[in-house]
Amino acid sequence: MPQLKNIIYAQDFDRATLELIFEEAKMMEYRLKRNDKSLRNILEDKTMAVLFYEPSTRTRLSFEMAMINLGGRVIGTENAGQFSSKAKGESLEDTIKVITGYHGVNVVVLRYNKEGGAERAQTFSTVPVINAGDGPGQHPTQAFLDLYTIWKKFGRIDNLNITMLGDLLNSRTVRSLCYCLAKMGLNNRVNFVSPKETRMRDDIKEYLDKYEVKWSEHDHFCDIIEQCDVFYQTRVQKERFQDEPILYETVSEAAKNLIITPEVVQRMKKEAIIMHPLPRVNEISYAVDKDPRAFYFEQSKNGLYVRMAILKLLLCD
Ligand code: CP
Repeated sequence: MPQLKNIIYAQDFDRATLELIFEEAKMMEYRLKRNDKSLRNILEDKTMAVLFYEPSTRTRLSFEMAMINLGGRVIGTENAGQFSSKAKGESLEDTIKVITGYHGVNVVVLRYNKEGGAERAQTFSTVPVINAGDGPGQHPTQAFLDLYTIWKKFGRIDNLNITMLGDLLNSRTVRSLCYCLAKMGLNNRVNFVSPKETRMRDDIKEYLDKYEVKWSEHDHFCDIIEQCDVFYQTRVQKERFQDEPILYETVSEAAKNLIITPEVVQRMKKEAIIMHPLPRVNEISYAVDKDPRAFYFEQSKNGLYVRMAILKLLLCD
């Protein structure tokens, strides 16, 4: 990938790199759908180590499938907190030094439970590190697939009115997406809709201000539904409230007012889309799934193409 060795923070990228990822992802999708066997030659001598200290369905399995589709190999653990030597007290730094010291490992995909984990890892790694989510920090490859989904639908990542809903304090996906929309998009508008206890953090608002992105904050979406192009729903991140069960109950109760139901969808523009990084708990009614505006499973599928593109661009000379 041009100039980049690691994928740690979304804002490390520029629009040209993002467009390169989009074009490559489109090509991956095209070639996969045509069962192009030569895809398997692309990374045939490469190995990806996956190290997940937090649960995952989409990120881990789409990265693994991406590597398999490109002919590469995968090693790793899906529960590093319990099944790696972290359980015996080993530091992240030592684990990364050991894994990347093994000849043949070409890339590490790391999900860590604390913000800054991927940045710490890359300083001790001899190979590229991909941040697959660092606590409530960032999830850059999710932002790239989110933008790919938007780009495929609208043909642009500019001039969009985007509403982000839910637990915005703890959602790393909305944080990465905001960085990208500000730095790589033009003339976008962002509406933050959340319980008051889980507002978007100030660092993101300041970043949006720096790039002159218009944003606003709301308790509810009643007044803005008709204007929006994209609704980006998120769940209340129960795992971030472990020491605050009462606060979790309060936020969960408030978030019930933000559920996307068929009645809400009826008020949306015909060409609007509903996104969610998933997993969904109850923030989008199952009855919405059959509406053509429900894009969350399409979005999830795009993760495979985008991650294939990223691995190719990162690992091929
Ligand atoms: N979107 C996302 O990160 O999902 P997983 O937690 O299942 O990887």
